[in-house]
Order: sequence, then C-alpha cells, then structure tokens
Amino acid sequence: MGSDPEVNKQEFLAESLAERLARRMAESGGDGSAQRALPPASGSGSGSGQRGITVTERQPLRIDLAELEAAGFVTPYGRPTPLTQEVRAVKRRLLASTLPSGGARAGIVLVTSPLPREGKTFLSLNLALSLSAERELNVVLVDADSRRRTLGAHFGLAEAPGLTDLLAADGRGLGEVVRRTTLANLSFLPSGPADAQAAELMAAKQMGRVLAGLAAGFHDQRRTMIILDAPPALAGGEATALSLWAARTVVVVKSRETTKRNLARALSLLQGCTDIDCVINMVDAEVCGLVEYG
Ligand SMILES: Nc1ncnc2c1ncn2[C@@H]1O[C@H](COP(=O)(O)OP(=O)(O)OP(=O)(O)O)[C@@H](O)[C@H]1O
Ligand SMILES: [Mg+2]
Repeated sequence: MGSDPEVNKQEFLAESLAERLARRMAESGGDGSAQRALPPASGSGSGSGQRGITVTERQPLRIDLAELEAAGFVTPYGRPTPLTQEVRAVKRRLLASTLPSGGARAGIVLVTSPLPREGKTFLSLNLALSLSAERELNVVLVDADSRRRTLGAHFGLAEAPGLTDLLAADGRGLGEVVRRTTLANLSFLPSGPADAQAAELMAAKQMGRVLAGLAAGFHDQRRTMIILDAPPALAGGEATALSLWAARTVVVVKSRETTKRNLARALSLLQGCTDIDCVINMVDAEVCGLVEYG
C-alpha cells in the first residue's frame, strides 16, 4: 500500500480481508471486475419479533440468507469461510473502537472509498450481516448513497423514501422509512431520492438528529451500530460531510487500481473523523495463502 504511515498501520487488517475477498472471487471464476448481484428481497418474511423502532405496520424485509451466501456474502449462521472470519475481524475492531467511548458518534461507522466501484456496498452489507449475529446489539444499515442506491436496489427499495427525505425534513418520521428485516436485530434505512444538496443536507444538524434517532429509537437496552454506505470521497461531498458524524471511517481501496495519490486525497477529505481503517479489496488470492479450517 505504499509508505504512507497512516495507511500502513492498518495494513494487517486490510490485507487479511482482501485476501479472503480475492479468494472468493477466484473460486467463483471472477477476474477482479466481476459483478455480483444480491437478489432483491421478494415476498414477505415470517417476522422476527424485533423490538425495534416503532415502524408503520408492514411486513419486514425478507433477507434470504441462502441466496446471500450463494452470492458470496457472509451470513450470520452460514458455513464459516475465510471471508466470514475476516469480516468478523473487521467487525470486532469496529465494535471495540466505536462503542465504548459513548457520546453522539458511538457506533457510527462510515464506509467509503476514494473512487467508484471499489467495494463499499459489498463491505457494508457484509459487515451488517456479520454484526446482526451479535447478541444485545441493534444494527442499522443506511444507504447513504442517493446517487447510486445500490443497497436499496439489493433490497428492492431503490425508490423507497428514506434518508434524503428525512434530511429535507419533509415531515416524515423515522418509523415511516426505517424498515425492519427478517434478521432479528437488523434494520435498513433506504436512501430516498437523489438530492443535489445531499452533501449539504448531510452536514447539517438534521443529520445528527436522524443518527441520534436511529441510535436511541429502539425500545430496548441494546447498543446500536449504524453502518453508512456512502459515495466515494472523491466524487462529491457526502463522504466528507458524513465523516463529521462517524466514530470510525472504513476506507475501501481496490488492489492494484487505487493509487496512493487518490487514497491520500481521499483521506485528506475525511478529516471529520480521523479514526480510519483501510481495507484493500480484491487482492490476488495467492498473496496471502489463507486456509479454511474445520
Ligand atoms: N471482494 C469482492 N468479491 C466479489 N465481488 C466483489 C467484491 N467487492 C466488490 N464486489 C462486486 O463488485 C461490484 C462493485 O462493488 P460495490 O458495489 O460494493 O462497489 P461500490 O464501491 O459500492 O461502488 P459504487 O461506487 O458504485 O457505490 C459489485 O458487483 C460487488 O458485488
Ligand atoms: Mg456502493
């Protein structure tokens, strides 16, 4: 990853995850540019009994773990793989570094990258799925990329009302847009429509109120982790704005493609949250020689 010390100190974590991701791509015949598509939730789930934010009555979003696993995502109760283990390692680091401090930023994780298509959404969803296996934790996955509403598309909710509606203070309440899922402690906040002022909206106090509402809005004593799947840092101001609210930023970089210069430029734009992990995605499998065990 070059000699930037700020980057190097995160390297063991990044390399390890990247290997797992690369292995999975190699196993599926991918070449580093392969596309993976998570099937949209269809039908209705059986309900999970989540004691979450009081939402307007509707069916929880169905999350088909078997389909997710087949598509290469980690699943909470699936067969342990190297990818699963490494996502867990990232998760543990985030849990340890973002929750104990308390305060308004506690549990808020920003996921971004310098450029498009480096794996932000892939990692965000994997982290949320892995986090959902934690006991005594609420997890809210937020599609904070209104221009490419990929997470929403995965769930069949690309056009649903969501974050940008809340930020525009259009009168909607959190409970009207946050969706429970069939995973007991996982909720999803769709993006809402693209908004040319998204960065400005995300920098404003209403964003803090939305995040505080997400963190405190559950009717239980559990802690809450909020994963923000953001646009690239070098493509608009949203990631910069969101860094003002996060306890930790995860910067995804794509092996052999993201240049050190672009990484440095991205880091310079994320000064709102200086606790940063870098995750290198799509590293060649042979680099690390990871093995499955058990
Ligand atoms: N480690 C990986 N293994 C396999 N597929 C991956 C991996 N990382 C990303 N992908 C796939 O690459 C594509 C781009 O990833 P993703 O959508 O997560 O990128 P992104 O950074 O969120 O892009 P955008 O900037 O458009 O939001 C997707 O089809 C995703 O499933
Ligand atoms: Mg994305």
